[in-house]
Amino acid sequence: MTLNEIAKKMCAKGKGILAADESTGTIAKRFKSINVENVEKNRLSFRQTLFNSSAMKDFIGGVILFDETIRQKTTQGPSIPELISKHGAVPGIKVDKGAKLLAGSIDETVTEGLDGLRERLREYYELGARFTKWRAVYKITDKSPSSQSIKSNAHALARYAALVQEAKMVPIIEPEVLMDGSHNIDKCYQVTTNVLNECYNELEIHKVDLKGTVLKPNMVIPGSGCKDKSSTKEIANKTLDCLRKNVPADVPSIAFLSGGQSEIEASKNLNEINKINDSNFLITFSYGRGLQASALKEFGKNQENIENIQKAFNHRARMNGLSSKGEWSEDLEKEFAA
Ligand code: 13P
Repeated sequence: MTLNEIAKKMCAKGKGILAADESTGTIAKRFKSINVENVEKNRLSFRQTLFNSSAMKDFIGGVILFDETIRQKTTQGPSIPELISKHGAVPGIKVDKGAKLLAGSIDETVTEGLDGLRERLREYYELGARFTKWRAVYKITDKSPSSQSIKSNAHALARYAALVQEAKMVPIIEPEVLMDGSHNIDKCYQVTTNVLNECYNELEIHKVDLKGTVLKPNMVIPGSGCKDKSSTKEIANKTLDCLRKNVPADVPSIAFLSGGQSEIEASKNLNEINKINDSNFLITFSYGRGLQASALKEFGKNQENIENIQKAFNHRARMNGLSSKGEWSEDLEKEFAA
């Protein structure tokens, strides 16, 4: 398969990406919220339960894994990447080493992980990965994001993407403008515009073939502490407008992060965006919390109750599958939940 074909397969109409790549530190927070001990056995058990769900075949085009998970064997025998491929989904891997304090700035970060990346990519390919993820983070305050943060993160994303394509995998490019803060939706629009522009400048300099990439952006949305709430229509209009103006047409697929939106909000907003999507971009989800929150709660209630955990996951995956086609509704949400 060409990189373009892989990028389209991951985000095929009706499907999206499951972001199950929480680092050991992040999954610790998720498990703490449900009183589950953060040990390898429990991490494998939760993830394997999701990857064995019936929704995988119909609604999931790709799964992003963490280093530990891509090396694990399921208790049934096959490796985790084999299990994912069996359902027709593409296994992927988070390759960044996290957002680290940016020297010379007060509290901004730059994502690290370029050293030794070429060698790590070779190994991940052998383990079955066909795409990768790298996340840059930008916080909106009076002073940030600074041009130092926007430029350094874009540069790192582009160098990462070039190495990933050299290794014959599809890079997911994830510049995340955080929802934290009291800024309004127009501020988010403006910052997202600046961030995307700089990313595509650098990707061009580094000769990345955009046809073999997936963009994973934030939606254009007011800060979580903003008093002016925006309607779903306004979020959809501004998000699509921002993407049409700043993402080159060669990019085949765009898969949003959920970024702290509730499961329902994330489905509702994605649906509205697809209802008005008149671009050629395949627009879908690449959700972590937006796909797993309910399933995680069920896991907390009873880790052995595979049926309930899978039921919760199947429902969210199905709902987001509908949203990727603009076919979701509150009625279907209730009908299928029943
Ligand atoms: P959320 O959907 O929970 O924001 O996670 C997506 C992700 O992969 C962030 O890097």
